[in-house]
Amino acid sequence: MKRKLLSVLLTGALAASMFVGCGTSTETTDTGAAGGDTATETTDTGSTASSGTKVGVAMPTKDLQRWNQDGANMQKELEAAGYEVDLQYASNDVQTQISQIENMINSGCDVLVVAAIEASSLGEAMDMAAEQNIPVIAYDRLIMNTDAVSYYATFDNYKVGTVQGEYIEKELDLANATETYTMEITAGDPGDNNAGFFYQGAMDVLQPYIDNGTIEVKSGQIEFSEVATAQWATETAQNRMENILSSYYADGTNLDICLCSNDSTALGVENALAANYNGEYPIVTGQDCDIENVKNMLADKQSMSVFKDTRTLASQVVKMVGQILNNETVDVNDEETYDNGNGVVPSYLCEPVFADKDNYKELLIESGYYTEDQLK
Ligand code: BGC
Repeated sequence: MKRKLLSVLLTGALAASMFVGCGTSTETTDTGAAGGDTATETTDTGSTASSGTKVGVAMPTKDLQRWNQDGANMQKELEAAGYEVDLQYASNDVQTQISQIENMINSGCDVLVVAAIEASSLGEAMDMAAEQNIPVIAYDRLIMNTDAVSYYATFDNYKVGTVQGEYIEKELDLANATETYTMEITAGDPGDNNAGFFYQGAMDVLQPYIDNGTIEVKSGQIEFSEVATAQWATETAQNRMENILSSYYADGTNLDICLCSNDSTALGVENALAANYNGEYPIVTGQDCDIENVKNMLADKQSMSVFKDTRTLASQVVKMVGQILNNETVDVNDEETYDNGNGVVPSYLCEPVFADKDNYKELLIESGYYTEDQLK
């Protein structure tokens, strides 16, 4: 019920906050200006060319660890299933992603898997896919305001926020608290449809404590639009937190809670705390179990993260691709939460899992996600 309302609210709010600057047919190349994405990967092995089924996989950026893993897992699994794969990264540049998708369509991809940079800016590329009857699977992030998206596979984004909020609630025993705790909020990119779900999942747990005075947000910045971080950038989150720390916590006031929607923003907040804060170290939340953040969990600089096993998501999407191409019933487990403005998109939601330094070994090492060496 709440979720349904949320998706309607978010659809309106995010659509309003987004620029719609797509639609050029000019080919843009991956400049790599943001660093790290210079290697646009196209992997047409040709080995299965005779079967001729090609899957285009459009990923946002190589800057963030998780998308590298997502891309690599998808490629491995799709190739193992006998498909050709055209995997592209777009340096977090919307125009680059549009060109990449258009190229995928022109080069004969049969299915597209897209993790959008900007939820509402892929309109014309999506129209092109629809005109040519190419099914599109939205990967991790929903693509908004288009009929072209057939399915959506992601993690339960609202639940990610719930896990973060409930962790804070339990750690500080907020339900029985007699003192006031201070909190600052760092949320995600307003252009990413997931960001509102993470925020709302956490705030639905924590807002009652703000309302009854158990939690005080000293900066007064509580609304999503005030706490959002463009492109999930670490540096942006760091700069904002440094300002907040010097404006509201420089007099020795303790900051007790840093609610951060994901690991890249948590890292910025942790850098700011290291540079600009001498009080008792706060609870810091995160999401993704990025390597730097797991290291910080082990060093007590981050309290928890939410593990989203990208192998699970990739397997689910590969399964979807096969089901779509074989005209079979497609596995979905949610047909009410994700309305993209043109209707509800049938979705498969994978389970996010709470992670901290007590269970990281089992979750991340024993499962083969990382080696112990990677975390040193
Ligand atoms: C993903 C998160 C990720 C964030 C930044 C979101 O859409 O769901 O896992 O941390 O983007 O890349």
